Amino acid sequence: MITSVIFDLDGVIVFTDKYHYLGWKKIADELGIYFDEEINNRLRGVSRMESLEIILERYEGAPLSDEEKVKLANRKNEYYRELLNNMTPLDVTDSVRHTLSELRKRGYLLSVGSSSKNAKFILEKVDLTDAFDAISDGTNIDNSKPNPEVFVKAANFLNMPCNRCLVVEDAEAGIKAAKAAGMATVAIGDAAKANIADHNINEFSDLLNILL
Ligand code: BG6
Ligand code: MG
Repeated sequence: MITSVIFDLDGVIVFTDKYHYLGWKKIADELGIYFDEEINNRLRGVSRMESLEIILERYEGAPLSDEEKVKLANRKNEYYRELLNNMTPLDVTDSVRHTLSELRKRGYLLSVGSSSKNAKFILEKVDLTDAFDAISDGTNIDNSKPNPEVFVKAANFLNMPCNRCLVVEDAEAGIKAAKAAGMATVAIGDAAKANIADHNINEFSDLLNILL
């Protein structure tokens, strides 16, 4: 029996995935690296430094030191934070807000399970912090998705065993992480194309047909 729902943030609750793309695109352009939406899909759910390594697969310049890589990742984060700064509660759709509050009314515990170190900042900007009973994010993990750590921590924060949790994800890496944690899975957006989750949905509100 499912008692708790763990939501990925970027690309599920808010469309910050497009801001991640713009931030990385700027870095890729500066370095003369080819980067497109398809490569961007591989960055979903993976950490900032791992994302950089994926982008650098096509880098043909002089070798970069670890220090230079950290500087690039920090610069991407500055570009990204500039975009996040313009976010307001209007960046969360009515459908997402309604679905979250309806799930709570139905008795489900709700958590965020995000690889991002910016998750709490985003939730504050869009006024959604109080919609969740727990937040597990990039600040409390050592390994990002597809490692299950972020979801196992979310279950721990909710005091729930993993097999009572269902994860909602737009990243293939996220669906794999949830499965590795022994959790039920719902894929939306890019992850739905892979057809590896227990359910694929088109609209966030479709969750109300699955979680009765
Ligand atoms: C995930 C995104 O939510 O967070 C990834 O899907 C991103 O694309 C990761 O790399 C880390 O985000 P941040 O905000 O800590 O750089
Ligand atoms: Mg995501």
